[in-house]
Amino acid sequence: MSTLKALVLSGGKGTRLRPLTYTSAKQLIPVANKPILFYVLDSIVAANVRDIGIIISPETGDEIRRAVGDGGRWGAKIEYIVQDVPGGLAHAVKVARPFLADSPFVMYLGDNLVGDRLNAYVDLFQGDKADAVILLKPVGDPSAFGVAKTADDGSIIRLVEKPEKPESNLALVGVYIFSPAVHDAIDRLKPSARGELEITDAIQELINHGCTVRSRTLDKWWLDTGKKDDILSANTVVLEEYTTLDIKGRVDKLSQVTGMVGIGKGTEIVNSKIHGPVLIGEDVRVANSFIGPSSSIGSQCSIINSAIENCVILEDVQIEGIDRIEDSLIGRSTKINRNNSNHKALRVMLGDDSRVEV
Ligand code: TTP
Repeated sequence: MSTLKALVLSGGKGTRLRPLTYTSAKQLIPVANKPILFYVLDSIVAANVRDIGIIISPETGDEIRRAVGDGGRWGAKIEYIVQDVPGGLAHAVKVARPFLADSPFVMYLGDNLVGDRLNAYVDLFQGDKADAVILLKPVGDPSAFGVAKTADDGSIIRLVEKPEKPESNLALVGVYIFSPAVHDAIDRLKPSARGELEITDAIQELINHGCTVRSRTLDKWWLDTGKKDDILSANTVVLEEYTTLDIKGRVDKLSQVTGMVGIGKGTEIVNSKIHGPVLIGEDVRVANSFIGPSSSIGSQCSIINSAIENCVILEDVQIEGIDRIEDSLIGRSTKINRNNSNHKALRVMLGDDSRVEV
């Protein structure tokens, strides 16, 4: 069998993460101060797959190329494949056909994170000479996902994309392994009601043709980072799992640091409390403030006279005089400060599709 390649899907529209996705690719939004896409590449390389194609859109492709480069940093070879329109996950595979040729491949959605190592699933794929291995995870709101109906022996009876009446709570995780048989299945597909070529339909087509489709339920966590709260959950999980006490910056005597906290070089913490797990980037200034659990703060931010908890804050953000900000995702170079007028007024300049709760 030819060696396994990987196809990472980092095109798409990212409408649910506007306004951040007007200026940036959603796969580059950081979780614990590292772009989501970098975790995806780590996971692929850890499974010994080093020939990687990344699907990009014309709008955000250049930013992804700049951030990821040629793959040298992962010891991998990366090729970029432009998908002109976001025609669906199976459409992306079709566009990548020249790169994939007749190789089996891992397909990984560039905004998905999984806690499991992929090696056992690759072994299952190769050992059983499968045409597809799919991963499942029980979820609370299956109608937002592709849903699998399985038999008692774990074989798949049916897959349905975003069903109104889900037949199970088993969602299809955004990591799949395919043999080249998937290309014929995709060639037979018609666009779905929402006008996309669906990967769930391609897998169903493999099943209908008697191909070997294996499934496994993930042991650890799975995070699909399509919406704000998903990013916050992913940030919490990753901070809890990986943060260690690592202080490179300066913490003054009046400050208190408890729990697992990472503080980057050039960062200064003055008269503040930091309660981990928390990650703070480089050249950040925190003064007279509280930074509570599950917060990631990007480099070059300044947090003055404020309290923050369960937030993902990108680079170069300034926050001053705000009693409490929680459960928030704040884009680059945003400024939030108290106005000193004596009537209770909110003054804002917000991008299109912004959301504010007061
Ligand atoms: P989705 O989150 O399903 O789609 P989207 O990125 O367009 O987001 P939204 O629904 O908020 O508008 O996509 C999952 C992943 O696959 C994501 O990393 C983008 C990528 N993708 C492609 O590369 N090509 C496509 O045609 C589609 C639909 C998605």
